[in-house]
Amino acid sequence: MTDTLTLRRPDDWHLHLRDGDMLRAVLPHTAAHFARAIIMPNLVPPVVTLSDAQAYHARIIAALPEGAAFTPLMTLYLTEDTDPDDVEAAHASGLVHAVKLYPAGATTNSASGVTNFEKVAPVFDRMAAIGLPLCTHGEVTDADVDIFDREAVFIDRVLDPIRRQHPDLRVVMEHITTSNAVDYIHANDTNIAATITTHHLVINRNHILAGGVKPHYYCLPVAKRESHRLALRAAATSGDTRFFLGTDSAPHTDAGKLQACGCAGCFTAPNTLSILAEVFEQEGALEQLEAFTSRNGPAFYGLPVNEDTITLTRQAPSYPRNIDTLDGPVTIFDPDMPLHWRVT
Ligand code: DOR
Ligand code: ZN
Repeated sequence: MTDTLTLRRPDDWHLHLRDGDMLRAVLPHTAAHFARAIIMPNLVPPVVTLSDAQAYHARIIAALPEGAAFTPLMTLYLTEDTDPDDVEAAHASGLVHAVKLYPAGATTNSASGVTNFEKVAPVFDRMAAIGLPLCTHGEVTDADVDIFDREAVFIDRVLDPIRRQHPDLRVVMEHITTSNAVDYIHANDTNIAATITTHHLVINRNHILAGGVKPHYYCLPVAKRESHRLALRAAATSGDTRFFLGTDSAPHTDAGKLQACGCAGCFTAPNTLSILAEVFEQEGALEQLEAFTSRNGPAFYGLPVNEDTITLTRQAPSYPRNIDTLDGPVTIFDPDMPLHWRVT
């Protein structure tokens, strides 16, 4: 039995760092384990232009702990007014690595997202021409579509038409939650990949709803039934280069989550690697962990793999139930989950 795992240093291809005091509180947890992360732009106001991304990048760098080697890979928040020239300049700057599509109203701070996809077609054309990936929050927002069906309906009604209209557009289906998404990736082998979160490998919708509502398990897209979780585990542990880690670690204070209308998001940055080692070991696929955390993402984004490594040892990790922030405590995802791998 292996007791030590050495991996090329992982990257997180989907991360919420927030801003201000929250940024300072959560960033060290990602920077301790990850070399790079794709930084989500859903601030208030959102990170829309190159100049917004430059300013946010500077705030992240200023918030890094002394001596931390961490590179934020910035994204732009797509709006119906996004200027293709600004997108091209952002890509050329070397700072911006993707554009994020939020259907308007789909999730936290998505009000400035897209309603009319025709309006953003010129941006997609430019992104296809320069090879800049589009990251999608893949859920429709129609009130008449059941929340558990919103990802599957998005694939049929929005994603597939966009890809037919812009076949050269490179797309990352973010935080996939369904076997429909896994099947879509399997059926389309060029210009498409998917991120999978840590928490969607662990919970299904029963964890959220059976035996009392568990707000700390609520995120978007919401976790689906068990068959979908199993499809995600099979995809993540398969070694298929089109699937890689995007934690979607999304901190909210306990006050924000534990209320009549609680916020969506699971804060997984501190324990993600311990949980992933557990999941991959349960699936008999520890040898595929490095592909998922450290190799497949850079390959899709056209970046080099990290040269340095991290080591996990077979030992229970110790971390607190929550971290303190100036806004109040933020609970870490599933703090009671029995885990057996610790980052050393
Ligand atoms: O659960 C989520 N939280 N899903 C998202 O898409 C956004 C995120 C957040 O920003 O809190
Ligand atoms: Zn997210």
